[in-house]
Amino acid sequence: MTESTTIRWEEDETRVVTLVLDDPDQSANTMNQAFKDSIAAIADRAEAAVAADKDAIRGFIYTSAKKTFFAGGDLKDMIKVGPENAQQAFETGNAIKRSLRRIETLGKPVVAAINGAALGGGYEIALASHHRVALDAPGSKIGLPEVTLGLLPAGGGVTRTVRLMGITDALLKVLLQGTQYNPRRALENGLVHEVAATPEEMIEKARAFIDANPESQQPWDKPGYRIPGGTPANPKFAANLPAFPANLKKQTAGAPYPAPRNILAAAVEGSQVDFETALTIEARYFTELVTGQIAKNMIQAFYFDLQAVNSGANRPKDIEPRQVHKVAVLGAGMMGAGIAYSCARAGIEVVLKDVSAEAAQRGKGYSEKLCAKAVQRGRTTQEKADALLARITPTADPQALAGCDAVIEAVFEDTSLKHKVFQEIQDIVEPDALLCSNTSTLPITTLAEGVTRPVDFIGLHFFSPVDKMPLVEIIKGERTGDAALARAFDLVRQINKTPIVVNDSRGFFTSRVIGQFINEGVAMVGEGIEPASVEQAAAQAGYPAKVLSLMDELTLTLPRKIRNETKKAVEEAGGTWAGHPSDTVIDRMVDEFERPGRSGGAGFYDYVDGKRGKLWPGLREHFTKAGHEIPFQDMQERMLFSEALDTVRLLEEGVLTSVADANIGSILGIGFPGWTGGVLQYINGYEGGLPGFVARARELAERYGERFTPPALLVEKAEKGEKFSDD
Ligand code: NAI
Repeated sequence: MTESTTIRWEEDETRVVTLVLDDPDQSANTMNQAFKDSIAAIADRAEAAVAADKDAIRGFIYTSAKKTFFAGGDLKDMIKVGPENAQQAFETGNAIKRSLRRIETLGKPVVAAINGAALGGGYEIALASHHRVALDAPGSKIGLPEVTLGLLPAGGGVTRTVRLMGITDALLKVLLQGTQYNPRRALENGLVHEVAATPEEMIEKARAFIDANPESQQPWDKPGYRIPGGTPANPKFAANLPAFPANLKKQTAGAPYPAPRNILAAAVEGSQVDFETALTIEARYFTELVTGQIAKNMIQAFYFDLQAVNSGANRPKDIEPRQVHKVAVLGAGMMGAGIAYSCARAGIEVVLKDVSAEAAQRGKGYSEKLCAKAVQRGRTTQEKADALLARITPTADPQALAGCDAVIEAVFEDTSLKHKVFQEIQDIVEPDALLCSNTSTLPITTLAEGVTRPVDFIGLHFFSPVDKMPLVEIIKGERTGDAALARAFDLVRQINKTPIVVNDSRGFFTSRVIGQFINEGVAMVGEGIEPASVEQAAAQAGYPAKVLSLMDELTLTLPRKIRNETKKAVEEAGGTWAGHPSDTVIDRMVDEFERPGRSGGAGFYDYVDGKRGKLWPGLREHFTKAGHEIPFQDMQERMLFSEALDTVRLLEEGVLTSVADANIGSILGIGFPGWTGGVLQYINGYEGGLPGFVARARELAERYGERFTPPALLVEKAEKGEKFSDD
């Protein structure tokens, strides 16, 4: 075996060996081929040293020379694993596990000194240590988030967490949600044994453990060890097991996420066999996931696309980054209040303006509520909460906006009102202040006509609730300058949100595409399909909100208003308006039955004291046709395809310019199911690839209408054997 290249062996006079993880070719350590060879060489050297002289080594400390402790599996490799190279991937993983196991069972104490993030493979190395000390570094995270990429931790992560904390806690605290803990919370939840305030203290603690435990062993390697809380072999435990599949169903709502199911199986089956067999079981379940399409979709979206989007692949180059110091938020309603909170949380001074001081103060009250809750739950300190609130100045006085270097407008959705509020303040704020509107439907180009500097005017479309929703859609108007775009991008990053960039168009990307989903669901009700089945189809396709309940939330009058405006615009431009089969259902619901949605107290659902009750029985009377059914798969794919196809049209129209933006925007902004990897990755990963998708779209078009006809761009790409990609 060659000398190690990615792990340095540093031995001191006290015979403690520090294994410094430090891949010379990468900014972070990963479980790549070089690591596989290195860890094997380390195991060889350790065994040889101890065989030659039992006292040659007193113990081992894993730590890292990088900012993160260890990044985990190499996703660039993992996304390429197919059935043809699965065996090789399996063997690489196995070899790494064997080496870690040899060090773990050498009879010497092994400590992980976790100096930074230890997620996935990083935490698995820590689990293969007898003692874990985490440095309380800011931003440091610990856990096994594989499930969020459609995978499971196969470096011993399932096998060891089950043995460390018992099946129930391992599943609920670590494996099934993929929770990432900060070091303090990792300690509270039993993922690490100690937390250190400084790197020196961390190493001291690691050494102290070695001194105190010269013959340390893992709990599971000690005689008489039993898994905490029992295993399915115990009838008492077995009685609780059936709850797990039910919980899983709740987590995935029946959507095709295979990872939680495989994790559950690996944990339960692995708990009933010896340690080595459990590792093999875990690896088999992993191989099934990593060779499948869904893990590929999720790795593409949640790793590669997200990174591309956040790192500014779509931000104009050669423009210096700029930070906002003081932002004016116009309108302290639901959106303005949330925007003010998000900005203040990121350290920006906020002037929150409404028509009256009371209305502005009410808007600030929203932040007060959120802060109080965060303090109560231990997520922040009183001091930090007070500082956040002190940054928000509520006002009705336009003069208070002096010195603001950015404006975010969130008044009622009305063009002339928006023009008016900008005119009122544009000469008061800084002369080059960035001017943003949070409109959800009005064209940015038209709104920009109301200001003296349209080059600095841009759309900044937040989602509700602002404090929770991670996405912001940036909309470039016809006259928006590159500098404004770069500044808007930097502002979104400054408040820790994910920016996608689109060109101006009615409904932009997100509002237009989510409309397709809703229209499709409503159209099915109009065809006479059982409404409960429509809701179930949406849930099982993986949508976070059922389609009719979402329509009720948004109110049925909204699509009608948008439809009428769009119709007018199309006809004025000399086009013909095709309409949508959902139109008549919406019209009847509003006009005939007076059920405009939740805010009107009645919609597709009944509402009791503002709370959603059952689906309105009248739907069955007025719409449902007894015995009228279509295949469940058609119901699901009508929703998914309607959104994917419209996204392709948006690419054709030049509204969207980036595949990554489309994928990320669809998942984070409008609830397109995560297992698909986003709207365009869904097409890439569809059975049969793009040609398969085109064929299926044509089938749907024949059965359900022209709107499913695949756009030319899609057909062309399918014929050329291409996929949707930004490279
Ligand atoms: P809202 O009705 O809750 O709040 C609007 C606020 O603007 C009210 O507090 C009102 O007093 C204030 N306002 C009216 N005239 C004003 C003036 N001259 N000066 C200062 N403030 C004034 O509305 P919401 O939901 O917050 O929406 C605001 C904007 O955000 C709209 O353009 C809407 O389309 C957009 N939007 C809404 C989303 C939502 O989910 N509600 C999502 C994304 C964008």
